[in-house]
Amino acid sequence: MSTHAVTLAFVGLEPKRVDVQVQLAGGQHGIVIVGLGDKAVSESRERVRAAFAALGLAVPAGRVIVNLAPADLPKEGAHYDLPIALALLGEIGVLPRDALESALAFGELGLDGSLAPSPGALPAAMAAHAMGLKFICPAASGAEAAWADCDLVAAPSLIALVNHFKGSGHIRPPVRGDLVEGAAIPDLRDVKGQEQAKRALEIAASGGHNLLFVGPPGSGKSMLAQRLPGILPPLSAAELLEVSQIQSVAGLIDRGQLTRRRPFRAPHHSATMAALVGGGLRVKPGEASLAHQGVLFLDELPEFAPQALDALRQPLETGEVAIARANHRVVYPAKAMLVGAMNPCRCGGGTGVGMCRRGPRCAIEYQARISGPLLDRIDLQIDVPPVTAADLALPPPAEGSAEARARVEAARGAQSMRGEALGLGRDFVNARAEAALLDRIAAPDEGGAALLAKAAESLALSARAYHRTMRVARTIADLDGAGGVRRVHVAEALSLKRVWAGQQSGMVGAAS
Ligand SMILES: Nc1ncnc2c1ncn2[C@@H]1O[C@H](COP(=O)(O)OP(=O)(O)OP(=O)(O)O)[C@@H](O)[C@H]1O
Ligand SMILES: [Mg+2]
Ligand SMILES: [Zn+2]
Repeated sequence: MSTHAVTLAFVGLEPKRVDVQVQLAGGQHGIVIVGLGDKAVSESRERVRAAFAALGLAVPAGRVIVNLAPADLPKEGAHYDLPIALALLGEIGVLPRDALESALAFGELGLDGSLAPSPGALPAAMAAHAMGLKFICPAASGAEAAWADCDLVAAPSLIALVNHFKGSGHIRPPVRGDLVEGAAIPDLRDVKGQEQAKRALEIAASGGHNLLFVGPPGSGKSMLAQRLPGILPPLSAAELLEVSQIQSVAGLIDRGQLTRRRPFRAPHHSATMAALVGGGLRVKPGEASLAHQGVLFLDELPEFAPQALDALRQPLETGEVAIARANHRVVYPAKAMLVGAMNPCRCGGGTGVGMCRRGPRCAIEYQARISGPLLDRIDLQIDVPPVTAADLALPPPAEGSAEARARVEAARGAQSMRGEALGLGRDFVNARAEAALLDRIAAPDEGGAALLAKAAESLALSARAYHRTMRVARTIADLDGAGGVRRVHVAEALSLKRVWAGQQSGMVGAAS
């Protein structure tokens, strides 16, 4: 005879049903947990034993075998405590066995029998809903789980749960967490001058383009990047759940509060590859996934470890992070806009135009820290010149983030319709258009085509740079409310392009 409870394991964001089977066997006293559990799972023994003691119950004598099935699926985390404890309570007759069949349990036990939240309550509750099961979780996870619209019991402790099942205690249904605004984002109005950089920011936001600001210290690069979330449209309802699931797995949701504000992640340049793209012993989403549907800001881009930057190429290309494990593959979504900022050279680039006391070599060496393939993925690469005293003396600009955001939203609307017409989904942005698609959606008019051909020849544009220009021109046309890409759109796209040190002489071949 054995008793079953249901819980789940995550492979990335994908929930996999796990059956917890508890059986009493004679012989040596002790709890044995089998089924590829990690350290947290094996330590569950001690927490379950202590929680039983707190209930005034003893773990039955003899061997208690806990089997987590399927056996070949790795199990990580402390949320197995609750299903193990419930199945054991069923096995010793404290709980009716059938009560456990229709529920999915997910939570950690404290030594005193209290229930503590585990990361991933939101996707777990959504999975329970999809499986037609009631979701049993700690009270502290209730506000988050309630977003899943599932049948929900959020209990403060194991004893409260036992009383609930026996009908002798009532657990109040949890209230869903609030939809919050989040901390105030600074306004674009604070940035004086830098008209081209602001325009580039708006174009990037509109088309979801990756963007790199290159300029001397104090020119406002970080200031500009930090204002990007303020001009991006809010997350759609579907995106909100998608983004929140990642945050839930990363344990970043506070009191069940979700926000439609797009994520903005700014990891320090000392971040490891695992921190940036995910991975490590227990696979957690990295910064690229935490920035899903939002912005990944890498300030001082060349200071990041080259391997870490290289690892970003795949997510930038495919919109997801894939991490290979011994016997499976973990995938997290990672459709983020990459925004980078850097000085033209290691010593800052002084106040001249990209020059310093050490001459162009300094810039060339510094820029070489960013690989060609990464740079190829950045549609907008622009110079941010030093701010002048005259700029700083200007009155605040008439337009701020609200005006820019309205234009961005309109341009995104046009792309949504395009994505729908092409069967690429409503969240389509021009930045995701492959070269083959560009011919269909971004072919310029005659004048534009002529200009593009001329520029391709005189500036020796590589095929990649050519396509980057077309993508950006398409977005500029969308911002203009234009159906087709015209000469002016191509001209502006061509103007938003920095010349890398050594480029003409072919010293930085990749940075075409
Ligand atoms: N265009 C600007 N308008 C108003 N203030 C500015 C502008 N540019 C810079 N500043 C001021 O200078 C400060 C530094 O700007 P910021 O940190 O954005 O520079 P940066 O380009 O990122 O420099 P670094 O290369 O050193 O990181 C800002 O906090 C702001 O007070
Ligand atoms: Mg900065
Ligand atoms: Zn230098």
